[in-house]
Amino acid sequence: MNTVANDARAAGARVGLSGDTITINGGRPLTGRIEVKGAKNLVTKAMVAALLGESPSELRDVPDISDVRVVKGLLEVHGVKVEHNVAEGTIKLDPVGVESAHMVDIDAHAGSSRIPILFCGPLLHRLGEAFIPDLGGCRIGDRPIDYHLEVLGSFGAVIEKLPTGIRMSAPEGLVGTKISLPYPSVGATEQVLLTAVRAKGKTELSGAAIEPEIMDLINILQKMGAVISVDTDRVIRIEGVDKLEGYTHRALFDRNEAASWASAALATGGDVFVGGAQQAEMLTFLNIFRKVGGAFEIHEDGIRFYHPGGELKPVVIETDVHPGFMTDWQQPLVIALTKAQGVSIVHETVYEQRFGFVDALIKMGANIQLHSECLGGHPCRFGQRNFLHSAVISGPTELHGADIEVPDLRGGFSHLIAALTAQGTSRVSNVGIISRGYGDFITKLRQLGADFEFEGE
Ligand code: EPU
Repeated sequence: MNTVANDARAAGARVGLSGDTITINGGRPLTGRIEVKGAKNLVTKAMVAALLGESPSELRDVPDISDVRVVKGLLEVHGVKVEHNVAEGTIKLDPVGVESAHMVDIDAHAGSSRIPILFCGPLLHRLGEAFIPDLGGCRIGDRPIDYHLEVLGSFGAVIEKLPTGIRMSAPEGLVGTKISLPYPSVGATEQVLLTAVRAKGKTELSGAAIEPEIMDLINILQKMGAVISVDTDRVIRIEGVDKLEGYTHRALFDRNEAASWASAALATGGDVFVGGAQQAEMLTFLNIFRKVGGAFEIHEDGIRFYHPGGELKPVVIETDVHPGFMTDWQQPLVIALTKAQGVSIVHETVYEQRFGFVDALIKMGANIQLHSECLGGHPCRFGQRNFLHSAVISGPTELHGADIEVPDLRGGFSHLIAALTAQGTSRVSNVGIISRGYGDFITKLRQLGADFEFEGE
């Protein structure tokens, strides 16, 4: 097993999901209706925001995914009472008894997710100290936390790196500041928001990420009593307040999950209604989906994605921060591109190593070459650094069944699609890791008529 697969397996094991295998008989179009719930990349942060309130919060449309369970565990060891009603999709979070956690309890969450870094600001406000374990998350690049540490330092946090994690304290409290991010990082923007809302005085953030999930986090913080304005040109201004209350909020839908099922519909020649999907947050995806030859209908309660017949067409895609084409959308769409007539290019500019998933596709018969140059668009941060971050996909190719192993969350979903489209049978192992971000995906595959057997451990 290679290192990436090893890392993925270890990550799966840490959230208790390793080893699950699906055997898929490919060649059947996915058809039917499924529902998407709240976005993983908002829900987990909204749960952290509840730490800032003086009263309980309630979040609705919470998906049943393991990243939610990891954050729940971490909140609980810090004294937050969490009631997760999985059937209703609600979470109630009572932060009234927040306290410092025992090191051993925090350590039990080491390597399970990237969310713990976002606990720092809220914990420093409430307790004057914070400790975060080693972070987990998908191995899709180096994923440093330098912006986060600079942000926290500039609010006045004292940072101490230890062999087991990072300890922080705020002996003088946290004070508003001026920050300019070198790259519009989603996590660092969230770090600023979650810290600035209770810091003394004003904070100005330039170079902010403006993903819809961040805008929804701002909605939540405003409901709690925060004063935040979003200006043009990626500038966000926050006026710190002394006190925040709990919130009640329905989470924004998961546009990454919606795009994944859309890509599965197209690649399998199917027709899938994604209940809960909305047009505005998916504009860029919908444009590309149409250019590749997919069709969609916008409805009030969701979007129908389907293959209208005819040939699929090649495209040139450059992933980017919002409002660009999201990095999380490329892996599932690549399977449809293996079926397109001609040469497609995907230039990945957000993560330097997000093509680990194509080895398995090549084994299944795809014609994909990886390049270290910036192909098909503008030069990006990775161009001179020898990372294989541009993919050239020549089609159409027929994929055939194979034994493959899921390397990471989005790559894993693309492996499922590959197996669904392939001639013959595929054995896809380590699919547990897909549960980090796709709620009930086994049930949804059944609802859409996929032919498979699931061997859970
Ligand atoms: N970066 C740094 N230093 C930092 C932080 C980020 O160099 O301190 C770099 C990263 O290495 C990367 C780029 O900045 O090259 C963008 O990273 P960003 O901080 O925006 O990403 P993130 O907050 O770690 C979130 C999502 C990702 C999603 C990205 C981009 C969560 C938990 N994760 O990651 O989602 O791809 O934003 O939109 O919200 C996924 O869902 O599978 C996933 C990976």
